[in-house]
Amino acid sequence: MIELDRVGKAYPTRQGVTHAVGEVSLAIGAGEFVSIVGPSGCGKSTLLNMIAGFLPPTAGEIRVDGQLVNGQVPPKLGYIFQKDTLLPWFSVRKNVALGLKFQGVAPDRIASRVAELLELGHLADFADAYPHQLSGGMRRRVALLMSLAVEPRILLLDEPFGALDTHTKTHLHRELIEIWRKLGQTIVMVTHDLDEAITLSDRVVVLSGPPSRVLLDERIAIPHPRDVFTLRETPQFTAHVQSLWSVLGQQFRAAA
Ligand SMILES: Nc1ncnc2c1ncn2[C@@H]1O[C@H](COP(=O)(O)OP(=O)(O)OP(=O)(O)O)[C@@H](O)[C@H]1O
Ligand SMILES: [Mg+2]
Repeated sequence: MIELDRVGKAYPTRQGVTHAVGEVSLAIGAGEFVSIVGPSGCGKSTLLNMIAGFLPPTAGEIRVDGQLVNGQVPPKLGYIFQKDTLLPWFSVRKNVALGLKFQGVAPDRIASRVAELLELGHLADFADAYPHQLSGGMRRRVALLMSLAVEPRILLLDEPFGALDTHTKTHLHRELIEIWRKLGQTIVMVTHDLDEAITLSDRVVVLSGPPSRVLLDERIAIPHPRDVFTLRETPQFTAHVQSLWSVLGQQFRAAA
């Protein structure tokens, strides 16, 4: 579904050229959930932006569904940005409806689809609330529902649960797994949280510091259904933390 072939990205800046992404090759199958971890500034957000067609790579090629991504947003793409992108002057209901409105979907269809999504995200009681009236976890859930509204085949998630507490995160993990198991999207998630990456993913990819390359591409063979509350206690989970950390920790040490 997504193929990165020796992709690189260098940004020209006033101080010179920043080589963010060195050479990254990666193939992600339809319906796969792949997480990307790596030191801050190694180009993770840049990679997602290139897959989404927002930024052109300066080296290599990206294909989505066999089509070269050439500055064009692939169809049926959902994106949760690293920064919160809810519109503060719209209610939860209107925020979730936004993508469908842009697509020109009829108002009655939008209303029923949004109602369904709010049920799915346990936010029906907050349909008429405004973003500033929500908790951090609820805001991230609205962002997730916004990206799901257009029934994406591909979801790009940039630290979707970044600054949340472990309790809220764990609940959101359970919801995301449920949604993914039900709808089967291809998901690429950037995260700084190794536990989160292992809990959710089929594969975890570790990138080096910039200019980044793939250091490890580890398959998480823990079968579904995964119990997000007890998974961390299993030896399989601990083994993955150890093997991923041995590579990631080395990058942090090198950067320090
Ligand atoms: N538009 C831009 N112009 C110039 N340099 C940029 C631009 N966007 C990102 N960079 C640089 O590219 C590098 C990678 O940035 P990016 O945001 O992709 O990293 P990241 O891995 O997502 O980091 P973090 O984990 O902190 O979110 C950084 O050095 C950043 O300063
Ligand atoms: Mg980032």
